[in-house]
Amino acid sequence: MQKTSLKLRAEKKSIGFVPTMGALHAGHQSLMKKARDANDVVVVSIFVNPTQFGPGEDFEKYPRTLNEDLAKCGAVGVDIVFNPEAGSMYAPDQSTFVEVLKLTDNLCGMSRPGHFRGVATVVCKLLNIVQPTRAYFGLKDYQQLQVIKRMARDLFIPADIVPVEIFREPDGLAMSSRNRYLSPEERTDALVLKEALDLFRERVKKGERNAITLIKEMMELIVEVPSTEIDYVSIVDANTLEDVAMIEGRVVAALAVKVGNTRLIDNTIVGV
Ligand code: PAJ
Repeated sequence: MQKTSLKLRAEKKSIGFVPTMGALHAGHQSLMKKARDANDVVVVSIFVNPTQFGPGEDFEKYPRTLNEDLAKCGAVGVDIVFNPEAGSMYAPDQSTFVEVLKLTDNLCGMSRPGHFRGVATVVCKLLNIVQPTRAYFGLKDYQQLQVIKRMARDLFIPADIVPVEIFREPDGLAMSSRNRYLSPEERTDALVLKEALDLFRERVKKGERNAITLIKEMMELIVEVPSTEIDYVSIVDANTLEDVAMIEGRVVAALAVKVGNTRLIDNTIVGV
């Protein structure tokens, strides 16, 4: 893969890159389409990265659907799918890891210790292998996007990190590979995440500026749905990801909620 990329870049071809863990859906395809529009060559990686899963998380049962994934890549004109083995990505005596401080203290970094170290490390490897001109990341994983932007800046990685809007089902549920774990009832219950974020936007629009009040209102809506268990409901500064007391400037309301056994995340950005 790296040889191919170096050759393409020497030929002055631009490379658009979409890193994924597979189980592809229309959200992933929206990133691929953006990459297709702006680059000569589009590369997608499919790699279920073991180091970003904690003990007791879903690494083993994470959906692996390579044939369907290849068809979805083909449908949007992807040129290369890079699908490495774990053994070729991680040497048994690997000694180097990437840690992004501060930005990983809150939100998913708090509830999934080590997760972002795994993400930053694998994305650093992938960017070094694929040598992209531009790499595309979804705003669905807002904290991940900020972590990768910071890593690329701090380590002088010569790729543009391009954010892509959250792609949703027609009823509002953010698309996720994990949605396929939901039973039909849980699928309906999962709509409460988007409803809580809509409530947040509505209340801010009407003038509410107190973060504690807004968090309480979102939580009250979510706990009404018995199959849910809140991991966090937070309102953070869009750049530092630190909790805010008041809504001012650009802030993100971010949620992680378990519906049955499936942990879902969603977020929305507001500027005041
Ligand atoms: P994965 O969950 O497969 O997501 C791959 C990319 O698709 C991420 O940038 C994610 O934000 C984006 N994405 C997923 N659902 C989306 C949606 N509904 N709308 C917009 N974008 C969406 O994120 C990962 O894999 C991994 O952590 C990875 C970066 C590949 C490192 O292993």
